[in-house]
Amino acid sequence: MSEQYKTRIEEHAFTEKLHACQQHVNDRLMAAFSSLPFLNSPLGAAMQHGAVLGGKRLRPFLIYSVGEMFGLPKKSLDAAAIALECIHAYSLIHDDLPAMDNDDLRRGQPTCHIKFGEDHAILAGDALQSLAFEILATQDMPDVALSDRLAMIAELAGASGFAGMCGGQSLDLEAEGKQIDLASLEQIHRHKTGALIRAAARMGAYGAGRRGREVLPLLDQYTQAIGLAFQVHDDILDVIGNTEIIGKRQGNDQQLGKSTYPALLGLEQAQKKARDLHEEAIAALTALEKLSYNTTTLKELAGFIIERNS
Ligand code: IPE
Ligand code: IPE
Ligand code: MG
Ligand code: MG
Ligand code: MG
Repeated sequence: MSEQYKTRIEEHAFTEKLHACQQHVNDRLMAAFSSLPFLNSPLGAAMQHGAVLGGKRLRPFLIYSVGEMFGLPKKSLDAAAIALECIHAYSLIHDDLPAMDNDDLRRGQPTCHIKFGEDHAILAGDALQSLAFEILATQDMPDVALSDRLAMIAELAGASGFAGMCGGQSLDLEAEGKQIDLASLEQIHRHKTGALIRAAARMGAYGAGRRGREVLPLLDQYTQAIGLAFQVHDDILDVIGNTEIIGKRQGNDQQLGKSTYPALLGLEQAQKKARDLHEEAIAALTALEKLSYNTTTLKELAGFIIERNS
């Protein structure tokens, strides 16, 4: 079989896996929403708009893929996956607000505040955040010890708050229109985007108890690389992506004077940075393989992160 043909088959298999995960996450999210009272309200509609319409579901995919390494069934990690996706959806709704990135397009749809007003977009983000922790604290997690559930709750809280996503978002806003150095830019990206990606793998590992905790340093090495690569590639897509395909307005970073990798290093060096980070991620996976873990899906995910067109 030619190498090119083999690569195409492998890419196809990964896309199928990702689609299956997207479908699963949508079903689980809808199930979580359906138990809410008066869902049929502006706030309920705004929450669903932000959380259910589209999205690559890469963070849940990462949680399940880490679980798969330890032989964990999906249902042990559903609560973690849905909770993290609710936090991600909240972060995007607030990120798009006029007070932040002032975007009118997300996932090919009008952003939450354009459709439901700023008041309901703010509340939808708030309510998704509390829903995440309610799900994580109460939803069935078969075969997961209470202490590991607690570790997941602490992980998600830390990664989404001051020391993680919120802190990074604040640094991102502060850096608008300014010339910052590479170390400061890396700090922004590692917090605003990297923190939740790192938390995803860690939450998957907690599901496996002691075995998962043993490999946290290698998982962190992997997610620190793909987390930064993810935002570098997001910055690149803002420059070379197509609005129709990325589902958000191309060129918005430049218009806002955002500090991004292409703005600081130029497009080619930003692309090289993403490739170097990809190699770092693969090195972490090679070390995991030496411990007899199957990292095929995590390897495919690392490639997808720097090659995706949306
Ligand atoms: C977009 O994240 C925001 C960033 C952290 C760059 P995604 O690209 O994962 O967004 P969706 O969920 O697929 O829409
Ligand atoms: C957003 O980064 C990161 C979070 C939402 C935490 P961006 O502002 O670059 O994300 P997009 O490009 O709007 O999706
Ligand atoms: Mg932003
Ligand atoms: Mg934005
Ligand atoms: Mg962006």
